[in-house]
Amino acid sequence: MSTTTRFSGSSSRWGRKVVILGATSGIALEVERQLARRGAELLLVARSPQRLAALEADLLLRGAKQVATYASDLASIQQHAQVFDFVRQSCPEYDTVLLAYGSMQDQHDSEMSVDVLLDELNVNFVSAAAILTLFAADLEQRGSGCLAVITSVAGDRGRRSNYVYGSAKGALSLFLGGLRSRLHSAGVKVITIKPGPVQTPMTDHLANAARFAEPGLVARDIVRALGRRSPDVLYTPWFWRYVMTAVRQIPEPLFKRLEL
Ligand SMILES: NC(=O)c1ccc[n+]([C@@H]2O[C@H](COP(=O)([O-])OP(=O)(O)OC[C@H]3O[C@@H](n4cnc5c(N)ncnc54)[C@H](OP(=O)(O)O)[C@@H]3O)[C@@H](O)[C@H]2O)c1
Repeated sequence: MSTTTRFSGSSSRWGRKVVILGATSGIALEVERQLARRGAELLLVARSPQRLAALEADLLLRGAKQVATYASDLASIQQHAQVFDFVRQSCPEYDTVLLAYGSMQDQHDSEMSVDVLLDELNVNFVSAAAILTLFAADLEQRGSGCLAVITSVAGDRGRRSNYVYGSAKGALSLFLGGLRSRLHSAGVKVITIKPGPVQTPMTDHLANAARFAEPGLVARDIVRALGRRSPDVLYTPWFWRYVMTAVRQIPEPLFKRLEL
C-alpha cells in the first residue's frame, strides 16, 4: 500500500524514534514497514531473537535509519526492568512507545482452565499496564512523548464468545483513559487504538478471516495517528467507532440473548 504522509516538523510530532513492544505481531510488522519507509529509528522488542534479526535486516533495507532489537517475553513482568533499561541506554530520546503484543486464545479454554484465564488476563492487561507504567513515568518526567497502545473493539462490550480477551482489552482501555488524563498536563499523549477484526496470525483460523481488515490499512491509520492531530481514541477501520456505538446501545436483556 502506498503511503503519502511524510515526517516533517509540521506534520508529525511522534513516530521518529519508536519503541515497539510485540514487534513481530502482524499489525506491528506493517507499522514498522511504514515507519521504516519514512526513515524512522526503531527499537523492537519481541520473543524470538531469530525473527528479530530477520526483521532488523528487512527494515534497514526498507529505509529505517536505525534498528535495535531486544528479545523478551513481555508477559514476564520480571523482565520489564531489563527491557526498560535497554531502551533507555540504546535510544534515550525515543519519542513513541507502541504496545502491540497480545493473545487471543480460544474462549472455551479460558472457561475450562483458570490458568489459561489468568495467562490471557496477564498478557493482555496486567503485563501491559505494568510495562506502560515504567514508560509513563519516564515520559512524564521528560514532559513529552507518546504512548500508543493497541487494545480492541472487543473491549467495548462483553460478549459470550470472547469476554475473557474482551475484558482484558476493556480493562486496558480504562487504564489508558486514566493514564491519558494523568499525563495530559505533562505534555504526554496517550492513544488508545481499537482495531476491529484484522487479518493477522491471531485471526487466520477464524471463519470469515478473509473479510477482516488488511493489516496494512490498520497500520496506516496507526501511523497517521502519530501525526499532529492524533486522536485520543482511534477506531480502525474508522467505521468501528459507529458499529460499537450502536452495539453499546443494545439493552442488556436483549444483548444477553444474542449469539455473539
Ligand atoms: N487481529 C485482530 O483481529 C485484532 C483485533 C483487535 C486488536 N488486536 C490486537 O492487536 C495486537 C496485535 O495483534 P495481531 O493482530 O498483530 O496478532 P499477532 O500477529 O498474533 O500478534 C500478536 C503478537 O503478540 C506477541 N506476543 C504474544 N504473547 C507475547 C508475550 N508473552 N511476549 C511477547 N510477545 C507476545 C506475539 O509474539 P510471537 O510473534 O512471538 O508469537 C505476536 O507477535 C494485539 O494486541 C491484539 O490483541 C488484534
